[in-house]
This record gives sequence, C-alpha cells and structure tokens, in this order.
Amino acid sequence: MELNPSDLFAEAQSLASGAQDEISSAQDTAALEAIRVRYLGRKSRLSELLSLIGKLPAEARAEAGVKFNAARQEIEQALATKLAESGGKPASTTPAGVDLTLPGIKPPLGKRHPLYRVMDEMVEIFESLGFTVALGPEIEDEFHNFDSLNFPPNHPSRDLQDTLYLPGGFLLRTHTSPVQVRTMLAEKPPIRIVAPGRVYRMDAIDPTHYPIFHQVEGLWVDENVSLADLKGLLYEFFRRLYGMSVKIRFRPSFFPFTEPSAEVDMACLVCQGAGCESCGQQGYLEMLGCGMVHPNVFRAVGYDAEKYTGLAFGMGVDRSTMRRYNLPDIRLLWENDLRLLKQF
Ligand code: DAH
Repeated sequence: MELNPSDLFAEAQSLASGAQDEISSAQDTAALEAIRVRYLGRKSRLSELLSLIGKLPAEARAEAGVKFNAARQEIEQALATKLAESGGKPASTTPAGVDLTLPGIKPPLGKRHPLYRVMDEMVEIFESLGFTVALGPEIEDEFHNFDSLNFPPNHPSRDLQDTLYLPGGFLLRTHTSPVQVRTMLAEKPPIRIVAPGRVYRMDAIDPTHYPIFHQVEGLWVDENVSLADLKGLLYEFFRRLYGMSVKIRFRPSFFPFTEPSAEVDMACLVCQGAGCESCGQQGYLEMLGCGMVHPNVFRAVGYDAEKYTGLAFGMGVDRSTMRRYNLPDIRLLWENDLRLLKQF
C-alpha cells in the first residue's frame, strides 16, 4: 500500500497535541510515566512512524524526519515541564480525607518473657567474664545425657519415672550438662562456655514444679583450673546478679560428673539468712549445683585427665525468675496471660 506522507505528518501532529492535553491534566508522576510509555515507548505509534521513514518516497523522507522528531520533542518537552512543575511529586497514595500529620496508631510491641530476661541476664554476666554461649539439642541420647557424665547404668534419674524417653534410644534432656560433653568432643581446651536452655523431667505439676524448665550450665576446662576459681567465679556471678551484699554458701553435695561436688545456697534477700515468710523460714535458698569435672568425664571425651582440670555448674532459671518477680506459682510462666506479661 502506498503511504501518504501528508496523512502521516498530520497524524504525528495530532499525536503530539493529544499527548500534551493528557500531560497537562495528569495528576502525578505515575500518570506522566504511563503517558510517556504510551506516546514515546518502543511500541508507540510515534516510534512506528519513525520506523516507516525509510519506506516513504525519497523526496518526503527529510521532511518526515523533521516532523516526526518535532512531535517527539514536543511531547518530551511537555513531560519535562509538567514534571518540573509538580516538583517530581511521586504518585499519591493518600486517599482523600486522610490526614497524614495526625499521630499514628502504635502497633502493640512484643516483649521478652520474664523468664528469658533473667536467663539473658545470667548469660550476659558470664559473657562479661569471658565465657561464650554454647547450645545443644533438647532431644538427646543416653550417652550424652547420662553415660558420658559418669551416671552408672542403674542410676535412679535414668528411671522411666523421671526421664521422658522417646523412641529410638532418644530422650528429652534432663539437664543442660550434655552440652558440656558435646562441647568437649568438638573442641580442645581451654574451654569456657555457658549453655542456657530448656530441660525436661517427668515432674507432676504443682506451684513449684513443671515438667519443662530452664537451666544455665557452665564449664571451664584448662590446665590448673581450681576449686578456688569455682568459688571466686560464682561469688562474682552472684554479686553481679544480686548486688555486692549478697551472701552465699557452698554445701557439700553429690553429682556423678563432678568431684568434689557442691550446692550453692544464697541467703534470702529479705531476711539475710535469718528465716522469714518469703523464704519459708529457710534462710537460705538453693541456687545451683557445681563441682570439679570428674576424671571419668574427661576420659569419656578423650581428654587427658592428668593434664586438665575443670569446673562446672548448673543453675535453674525458673525459680530465680519467680523469686525475682515475686511470682507465687511457676505455672504463671506458662500461661501466656497478658495481664501478667504486660507488667514487664
Ligand atoms: N545437671 C545438674 C542438675 O540438673 C546440675 C549441675 C550440678 C550441673 C553440678 C553441673 C554441676 O554442671 O557441676 O541437677
């Protein structure tokens, strides 16, 4: 089909004026961009006209180039002017009647659970004393939870009444001490770790017992780590957690994986040890178990028990949390009752 140059010139002119009308009434930059694509984009009629120049009769080509490009420039110019006028304002997404200057509505912010605040605080104190955090699985096996920790095969805590067993030789860890073993198997001394985490026991639920609870375990293995280091470390820990005037005592105890073993009690913060209502007339409260790593534990992980010594400790988090916040019942930590949780 013969192309009629003057028809095409007229079409270019009407494209340019149509575009200019649209541009002058455009509301925002998104509308301007849509117009630009429609009139100047690769698939626009104007681009098509420009590509037709070669097919026009030779004598019309120069004029076509001038006219089509003039149309293009008019549109570009109109777009640039409008954009400058609007200050490059981005597409408006504000519906009419919305006042963006009003104060916003605060989304409810979650908070750390009180138990984890206490646990974090304990861990941070040990971190500041040069310990790093180590974690282990909550599903354990008998080797890591008992055998390697020098529990004899008939030890009562292995009993079905106390330990929650899973199929396939697994169990829910009854303490965080298996993290000691896992760390020693994976690393070489010196080792200085704290292991916070959940532990499980077959306990009947009452105001002070829940079958899921939390411990913070500690282990320091090196040459010449002594009982004096254990006492100094734990004194410093309690001072940082409860203040300089805190009173603690070491009481001989037994754990299969430490020798000697001790339990640490802290004088009641209310009565300083005299006995009062808040400590149930006990005066002192049990805080943790500790001791010097038993040589059999070092043997189980392939460490030279002649060369290395170590200190270890494990403390409960749940009862400390109850004491810290004066909670009368351990179940309050599990109920997700916002009336309680909002207070922290
Ligand atoms: N694992 C013990 C428990 O759950 C606590 C404990 C005692 C941990 C002495 C230790 C330790 O690391 O040395 O009762």
